[in-house]
Amino acid sequence: MLPRAIFDFADGGAEDERTLQRNEAAFSELFLLPRPLRGAAGRDLSIELFGKSLRLPVLIGPTGLSGLFWPDGECAAARAATNAGTIYCASHASVVPLETIAASGAAPRWMQVFIYRDRGFSREFAERAAAAKYDALVLTIDNQLTGNRERDLRNGFTIPPRFGPTAFAGMALKLSWLFRMRRELRRITFANYVERLGAADLRTIAQRMPSLLDPTLSWRDVDALRHWWRGPFLLKGILHPADAKEALARGVDGIIVSNHGGRQLDGAIASVEALPGVVDAVAGRVPVLLDGGVRRGSDVVTALALGASACLIGRPHLWGLAVAGEAGVAQVLDIFGREIDRVMGLCGITRIAEIGPDLLMRR
Ligand SMILES: Cc1cc2nc3c(=O)[nH]c(=O)nc-3n(C[C@H](O)[C@H](O)[C@H](O)COP(=O)(O)O)c2cc1C
Repeated sequence: MLPRAIFDFADGGAEDERTLQRNEAAFSELFLLPRPLRGAAGRDLSIELFGKSLRLPVLIGPTGLSGLFWPDGECAAARAATNAGTIYCASHASVVPLETIAASGAAPRWMQVFIYRDRGFSREFAERAAAAKYDALVLTIDNQLTGNRERDLRNGFTIPPRFGPTAFAGMALKLSWLFRMRRELRRITFANYVERLGAADLRTIAQRMPSLLDPTLSWRDVDALRHWWRGPFLLKGILHPADAKEALARGVDGIIVSNHGGRQLDGAIASVEALPGVVDAVAGRVPVLLDGGVRRGSDVVTALALGASACLIGRPHLWGLAVAGEAGVAQVLDIFGREIDRVMGLCGITRIAEIGPDLLMRR
């Protein structure tokens, strides 16, 4: 379906991929304790998040370079999310500009940003997102250095991205992808950076990325973004309960428990294992979301039983995108919806709010 280098870019994680594997494995160690006799004929999967009503508790998380998987991949995925009644979170590294995603009609829409050495650039991102009427801003805090993704190095899909001879050979073998992307490949870039950096090509921008990102990222930057952004403001990449508490003190409106899908710090705790500590620390004051390893409706219900308000998916939507564009992402969301519905029915639950810790078997 996809050239090896592109499949691995999405599928892979950092170093030995321990965290990547653990994200899924940790879910498989948690079991539900159903109560079928409560009678759950009609189920309602809707939730409310920051004043918006969503038809299911699954959002699409930010993934850079989604346009590698389908022409205008971000717009296709965003449309599918909107039609499914959920949120699309645009990545800083979208192939089309954030304004184009907004113009595609995605609603509600969130924007994910980083902190750069040039803080003016971070502020510019926030201002552009505000001008394009994004509903929430997500600051990813676990990407101040880029993770060591060895599959990419092996494939010659490096940062800076450069397709080596093996990668090229792999592409030629995937003719349907190559045909679909024939007009796109030359315009694949980090579109949101083009104007600011005065460079249009992916390679030049990617080469400059490490020097743009700032490893001195700190709470002061959270304060600054909080000050610049008036709407809901979330931190993505929180794993430690103390950080969750600090985030609350800084006026953050939501927390995404995440280890970046195992792509950054290999050896980091699985998201679902970190969730209970963060939920305890937050004590219901703001929504806590989770991503990493969510593959089934039962994973979503498990995360909700542990106190999450909703889950985000990364890779699953990219696979849908790679197979059939907008229709593929729609299908992925539809499968999640049907699975959550079935799990709820089998557990004797009619509303998301009824999902609580009593639904989980404790060892
Ligand atoms: C190909 C790819 C690109 C990603 N790019 C970003 C990004 O630009 N910003 C970000 O905050 N997270 C990024 N992530 C991480 C996702 O937002 C999310 O945390 C992760 O994919 C969740 O894990 P899952 O893939 O197991 O669902 C990316 C993930 C993938 C797979």
